[in-house]
Order: sequence, then C-alpha cells, then structure tokens
Amino acid sequence: MSHDSDSQDTKPPGGDGLSKGLTNYGDTDFSLFLRKAFIKGAGFTDDALARPVIGIANTASGFNPCHGNAPQLLEAVRRGVMLAGGLPIDFPTISVHESFAHPTSMFLRNLMAIDTEEMIRAQPMDAVVLIGGCDKTVPAQLMGAASAGIPAVQLVTGSMLTGSHDGVRVGACTDCRRYWARYRADEIDDAEIARVNDQLVASVGTCSVMGTASTMACVAEALGMARPGSASPPAVTADRIRVAERTGAAAVALTKSRITPAGVITAKSVENALRVLLAIGGSTNGIIHLTAIAGRLGIPVDLAHLDRLGRETPVLVDLKPSGQFYMEDFHKAGGVPALLRELKPLLNLDAVTVTGRTLGEEIEASGAGFPQEVIRPLAKPIFAQGGIAVLRGNLAPGGAIIKQSAADPRLMQHEGRAVVFEDAGDLAQRIDRDDLDVNANDILVLKHIGPKGAPGMPEAGYLPIPKKLARVGVKDMVRISDGRMSGTAAGTIVLHVTPEAALGGPLAWVRTGDRIRLDVAGRSLTLLVDEAELARRRAADPVTPPAAERGYLKLFLDSVTQADEGVDFDFLRPPKR
Ligand code: FES
Repeated sequence: MSHDSDSQDTKPPGGDGLSKGLTNYGDTDFSLFLRKAFIKGAGFTDDALARPVIGIANTASGFNPCHGNAPQLLEAVRRGVMLAGGLPIDFPTISVHESFAHPTSMFLRNLMAIDTEEMIRAQPMDAVVLIGGCDKTVPAQLMGAASAGIPAVQLVTGSMLTGSHDGVRVGACTDCRRYWARYRADEIDDAEIARVNDQLVASVGTCSVMGTASTMACVAEALGMARPGSASPPAVTADRIRVAERTGAAAVALTKSRITPAGVITAKSVENALRVLLAIGGSTNGIIHLTAIAGRLGIPVDLAHLDRLGRETPVLVDLKPSGQFYMEDFHKAGGVPALLRELKPLLNLDAVTVTGRTLGEEIEASGAGFPQEVIRPLAKPIFAQGGIAVLRGNLAPGGAIIKQSAADPRLMQHEGRAVVFEDAGDLAQRIDRDDLDVNANDILVLKHIGPKGAPGMPEAGYLPIPKKLARVGVKDMVRISDGRMSGTAAGTIVLHVTPEAALGGPLAWVRTGDRIRLDVAGRSLTLLVDEAELARRRAADPVTPPAAERGYLKLFLDSVTQADEGVDFDFLRPPKR
C-alpha cells in the first residue's frame, strides 16, 4: 500500500496549508505575510487560516447544464469540510459540456486536465475535491489530479431525471438518438420531435443512461477515487447532497492519511475499474479515458488484457443503451456497491480507496443488499461476456473496439462491401442522397475522425443509417471508423481503429467496393485486399499528417497520442525510465 507516494519533484515546496507553494518574491516569510494579508481581505481569521486547506475545483458554468447543481454541491462540500475541521476554498477551472464544445469536447479534455493539474499545483491546498460530471470533465480532473500528486477525491454531479413523452419514459441521450432516427425515417413529424425535445433532459445533471458520464462516475468509484456509493445518486436528490457533504469530510481525512492518487490508482485498481466498466455495459469512451488516467501514473492499459477481462466479465447492469433501465433505477437498486458485491470474486479486494479502507472492506461495509431487477447476480448475467471486445487485423494493426452488448447479434460475423466516406464533411454531404449506392449488407466506413484527423476524435463514429435505407426499416449496419461514439449510442459500430487514417493507417487506403470481414467471435477485422494492392495505393496517394501553425491546435496536433494511449498529450505522461 503506497501512502504519500508522490515524488518530491511533483509536490509543491513549503509546508502545509496556506504556507504551501509560496509565491516567489525571494523572501519566504514576506511571501506568507503577503498571502495572509490578501486572504484576510476576504474576512478570514488566523484560526480559519491555520486549518488544513481543502481546494474545491468548481466547474459550474452557464454553458454546462450537466453541472447545474454545482452551487448546491459546493455548499455541501464546504459544510462537510468545515464540520471536519478544514478550510474549504473553491477555485474555477475550465468546464466542458458535450453539446457546447466546438469542434468536439474531446479536443478540450487535455486542456482541462492541464488547467486542473496546474491550478492544484499552483495554489496552496492540502487536498482537493474535484466536482465534475459531464463526459470529459471527470477524466480531465482525474488525469490532472493524478499528475499533481496531492490527495484528491472525485465528486460527480450525478445523473439527470428521466422525462416522459406520451406516457413513454425518456432520457438523454439514448432516446435522443432513438427519436431522431424515427424522425429521419419519417415515422414522426416536426411537431412531435419538438415535444420530445422538451422531455429528454428533465433536470440538471448528467445523461440518465449508462453513457460516458455515468460510466466515468462508476469507474471513479471502482477505481477508489470517489467515496463508496457516490456514483449513482441523481443530481437533484438529497442523497447527492449528502454525498457532497461526506466528500468534503473525506478530503479533510485525506490530509491526515496523506493518500495520494498514486496510492489509489494502481494496476490492481485500474483492473477493478475495467471490470466494472465491462459489467455495466459501459461507454467505449471509458476505455480511452481510463487509459489516459492510468497512463499519467505509468500504468499501461493493454488492449489484449482488456479483451481477456471482457471474456471473463459478464454484463450485469441492465441500463440503456445496452439494456432497459436508467441511472435513477441503478441508484435505487444499490448502485456501484451492489454491483461490486456481485463482482467480488473477480475483483482485487486489497486495492486501497480514498477512504483509507480497501475495496474489499468497503464491500463488506455496504451490507447484504435486497431483491431488485437492475443489477443481476453473477450467475444470471444479461450478457455472458463483457460489453466490449477488442478487434485486430490488417485494417486495425493497433486495435479497434466494438461494444458488442449494444450491437445487433446478426451482424457479429459479417462480410460486406465497403461504402467509404473520406471525412465527416463528405459523410454529411452524401449519406442522405437518394442516389447513394448503398444497401443494407454494405459496411459504412468513415475516415479522418481520429485524434489528429478531425481533430479531437469526435463522436462521429455513430454513422447514421442512410435515409433511403432508414425509410425501408433498416435499423443497424456495420459501421467502421477511427473515431469515437457517444456512450449513449447503440449499433454494430467498430471504433478507435488504430492507427488512424490521418497518420496513414490502413483505414486511409480503403476504397468503396473493397470487401471487409468483421468476426467479433474471432476478434478480427480484415480488409480483403492484398498487400501488393495496398502498397500500390499507399505509393500513389501518400498521406500528409495534419499540422497547425499556432495556438492550442498546434499543441494538440503536435502532441496527441493515439486511442491505445488514451489520446493524452505525449508530454503529460511520465517519462519512461
Ligand atoms: Fe453532459 Fe451527457 S451531455 S453527461
């Protein structure tokens, strides 16, 4: 067990509390004197300033309704900190919402991680509470906190409530896509889609299904970086506020135990988190984010290991998009502690959590559980294998993944003709044209939506079914790209093809009319074109990787890694020793 294992070079210089990391004026006593003078301008007493300082990363933003309850959570965290004898001081960081970030939120995740890391490092705090929730915010905060190296605890904002459309329960965003597909197929009209739009997001909070936000909430808890039972309470409930108060108290306790993220995020806890991700039928994005978080501490997430875990770990949680229920049902069924109890034989029970207790001790403390329908026993899974399978082959030498639990079983073994779109713009222009040469057995291929290609690896891997096929009832087709898809989406969709087309990966050389074979049971993805022909295509049309002249885009394109390394910046990972 590694307590306080942060290295000296990542730890701010100086003592505890307000005297940590003093501003450099060449006179340390004067630096502290000045700092105290300024904060006393806000009315603090010497007694308050002598307490352990708990920083609270506040991601409230008018552009982020998934964090709309952040003010209430902040108040409750402050209460918890003060009841435990600490001094809470909140500070703002970047906040990123899925629908309000151009070109895509993933482009900004690493920027938020840098912001979080550097503001934790720069400001005097003994521990930090990270208030996040929407898809990219929790990964960014955990990446930043892992690198900053002081004690940290995650608090998620919690899921939104479900709404109701004509008596049918609906929630973002699986139902957003379901109703939009019906609208595209002319099954519902303008007036109805407008009424649906009012109901899909019934309150503040994160998406109400097992999308990326819910996945990362469960992953943070399984990883040990969030308090037991903290992943599932919906955003607007009393349970969520109580979690916030307890999280504040937990942060004060961390100033005594000195357990840092490096003591919690270990190879064992990362494996536990992967097990949970698989058992919840979690978002494929969770793989990329967990790879990036673990990568900050030099812990590799190997795709072959993930696939082995996938074969051993059944899907137990019956939530959309793989199943039928919503996050509020998962909470009422007992949340992550109830799931961990079922998964216990597969977990590393000696992994340490932010509470200072092991995962096994927390499972014991969570009690016996009760009959419910949402979290299945290990012996009665929803899918015998985990939700995600890893594919390899000449089309994806560095790997690709498919969320098999949300795919059409009839397409798990499929050979078809490629219908290729060169990039997202080409897709938008042609996908709905009546003269598009496509049939239901074809395989749709989209290039140039990888980490460098788009850039930022947008969630465009969920290619829409061409309108002419949607109108005649086609619901699913095999789709392949180097991009990501929303955790709330479903379909037979191969993602994260590595290396990406923009770097000259084999995907770049696929042409309409080529044959492709998908074999999920055999874990293969094969372009049925011989190597001599591919070499000829490569020579005739060489790829120039995208570049930029200035700004964050330049930093991004120069530094971003591929999906199998978490799409983190190469310079943010620890140096290889
Ligand atoms: Fe924020 Fe879905 S858009 S969690």
